[in-house]
Amino acid sequence: MTTQPDQYAVMGNPIEHSQSPRIHALFAAQTGQNLEYRAIRVEPGGFAAAARAFREAGGKGLNVTVPFKQDAWVFADVLSARAERAGAVNTLSFGPDGVHGDNTDGPGLVRDLKINHDGQLAGQRILLLGAGGAARGILQPLLLEKPVQLVIANRTASKARDLTLRFSDLGLISGCGFAELAGRQFDLIINATAAGLSDTIPPLPEGVLAADGWCYDLMYGREPTAFVLWGREQGAAQALDGLGMLVEQAAESFHRWRGVWPETRPVIETLQSGRGF
Ligand code: ATR
Repeated sequence: MTTQPDQYAVMGNPIEHSQSPRIHALFAAQTGQNLEYRAIRVEPGGFAAAARAFREAGGKGLNVTVPFKQDAWVFADVLSARAERAGAVNTLSFGPDGVHGDNTDGPGLVRDLKINHDGQLAGQRILLLGAGGAARGILQPLLLEKPVQLVIANRTASKARDLTLRFSDLGLISGCGFAELAGRQFDLIINATAAGLSDTIPPLPEGVLAADGWCYDLMYGREPTAFVLWGREQGAAQALDGLGMLVEQAAESFHRWRGVWPETRPVIETLQSGRGF
């Protein structure tokens, strides 16, 4: 007798272009796990009801994307330390003891930088652009890598400064506006703003990227993002977009649900081969 596959899904809005079902299908095939993973579009305000219905129908876990990561944080009964601090959850696991919430975005970013690209974070000067949910989701894992300093720059400077208060016990962290970056230099600049949605980048001063510095855009697309193009113009040693992070955060979720680590490299290569660069 064949057993029914375990059910997983990603919930968000919009969700049509999500790569997560494809990534998890590749992971499942590779590891021989019997599961199904689909994308579910949820209307604004409807997250808790949709998640509850999915669980009651026997669902084992969910990924959660924009705009529901804070709703998922509220929905979880138990939070991992990193999710607790991030104020956002992208992975829910449904167990007999309740709903567990985690945030695998930060570990996904760190794994992509360190393992896939042989990058270094310890001792580096890191500039994080943006102070919204995407930035909050990666701050704790970044600080645990012990950069020598981490500066958050945001269009609304007060939001950057407020955000530092939640993380100041984890390392040397400060917040400012973009204009205050003049004359400063960083080894790694991470774009966590939503500026890329309108194909723009935040206003950054000349020389802010150190020689041999790296750029990383949390966003990704079929073409290089505006921030990746900026990084190339600045002579970045690496100008990366968030495709690797997407696959790595999915692997973290998969491991949390199934207890097995999938191999990410062939999956990144498959997704990469469908792009124009
Ligand atoms: P997300 O969950 O994707 O982080 P968010 O919480 O709405 O979304 O945050 C968006 C971030 O992008 C914010 O830091 C925002 O800056 P403000 O706090 O000043 O609004 C930033 N952002 C959005 N559009 C931007 C633009 N055109 N230039 C620079 N920063 C931008």
